[in-house]
Amino acid sequence: MSEGSATSDLIIRNALLIDGTGAPCMRGDLAVKDDRIAAIGDLSRLKGSREIDAKGLALAPGFVDTHTHDDRALLSDPLMECKISQGVTTVVTGNCGISLAPLAIDRYPPPPLDIIAREPSQLFATFGGYLSALDRDPPALNAACQVGHTTLRIGAMDDVNRPASVTEVADMRRALEASLDSGAIGLSTGLYYPPAKAAPTAEVIELGKTLHARGAIHTTHMRDEASHLVESVNETIKIGKDANIPVVISHHKASGTPNHGKVAETLKLIDAARRTQPLGLDAYPYVAASTMLDPRRIPLAAKIIVTWSKSLPEHAGQTLEAIAEKLGCSQEAAAEKLLPAGAIYFMMSEDDVRRVLAYPHTMIGSDGLPHDMHPHPRLWGTFPRVLGHYVRDVKLFPLEEAVRRMTGLPAAQFGLKDRGALRPSAYADLVLFDPDTIADRATFEQPTLPAAGIALVMVNGRAVWRDGAATGERPGRALRRQSLGPMGMSATAH
Ligand code: ZN
Ligand code: CU
Repeated sequence: MSEGSATSDLIIRNALLIDGTGAPCMRGDLAVKDDRIAAIGDLSRLKGSREIDAKGLALAPGFVDTHTHDDRALLSDPLMECKISQGVTTVVTGNCGISLAPLAIDRYPPPPLDIIAREPSQLFATFGGYLSALDRDPPALNAACQVGHTTLRIGAMDDVNRPASVTEVADMRRALEASLDSGAIGLSTGLYYPPAKAAPTAEVIELGKTLHARGAIHTTHMRDEASHLVESVNETIKIGKDANIPVVISHHKASGTPNHGKVAETLKLIDAARRTQPLGLDAYPYVAASTMLDPRRIPLAAKIIVTWSKSLPEHAGQTLEAIAEKLGCSQEAAAEKLLPAGAIYFMMSEDDVRRVLAYPHTMIGSDGLPHDMHPHPRLWGTFPRVLGHYVRDVKLFPLEEAVRRMTGLPAAQFGLKDRGALRPSAYADLVLFDPDTIADRATFEQPTLPAAGIALVMVNGRAVWRDGAATGERPGRALRRQSLGPMGMSATAH
């Protein structure tokens, strides 16, 4: 145990230290100096300008939300209470093919880009411009930002309903290069969605070569999470292999009753591929998905709740069935009337959710949608739900293992250097919580209630959340690729 310098800004004493590696927790103290952890262990001979008695609560590295759509929320709602209230200290943005940059258009952003941008003025012509905006007006937590393939397509193509031409691919590669050089950490795809559906595998591999040249990462909302789930996993593995890049499969699941159980097969495929290439995945702990309202999805879901609607906003929070009844039409017709809109779809099985969560290489990503009027509760509840419901109540895996999936593992995958770990000289991104009471309180009926059991959250050495409220501090940083470590690494599993 090292004791570091003689005085520290802050000492947290008598904590249950969970270091993020999956190693068993142990009692001890932790000292913070400036934005870093100064010492850890028995620090009884050390003095802090301020001291906190943790009274045996768990102290862990701040959680990394590997899958977010917080791109604009970081600017429009920089306190980011939906995330810091869960102990999240870093978010990965730009997922599912959509990012605010680099793109300049003068029309309504085509769905699903409208999940994050509902006015063209909310977009940024350059990725550097977007990151500078975060620097100027920083959020409470850190952000590692990806470029979206759909965003690139909308910028480079007059018609996105076809494969990109050779010239268009070259244009996208140039825009991607410039974005990576400004600090973007990688490229996401949303091959499921209308503006990217027509992109062949080869188009993504071509862009992947740019990622390879820059040591950047690729994440994907795959082409099909329903009847062609297995084929989609194989396509993803091929993209990673042919472009020689690390890949993360986003929100891994099997959608629709006929497809339930298929994750048993895909997890085997992923496990086999991992022997020869860097491949990761994330998941959120719920049986319902949420995204743009898409009439194609109605037959797959047991129940649908509308989360927002541009044309009929008064129906947010109601089921599509109830709305159809009120409007006196079919659910398909009601959906058409609500567009553009968002929805929650109940379409996964609890067994599958548990199977994916229990897989040792699965990270936790909320996929929360911060601009929805009546959001999916995963936005406010994901991390405490894993730690409370799945760890303490269901006993799906031990607490230390859950923390590793939220800290050390994502830090290794996304190259978050000096984060995701409790050790001297790592950044002081910290969460102090009570393993006995931590719980998600957000529900499908009341989706924006903050979690219970989170006592203190620190980002870069400054408190951002304390005793149920934001402190107002905004010490977050836009993390540039150039300041990060190698991506696609596996964390040590215990
Ligand atoms: Zn997605
Ligand atoms: Cu997403």
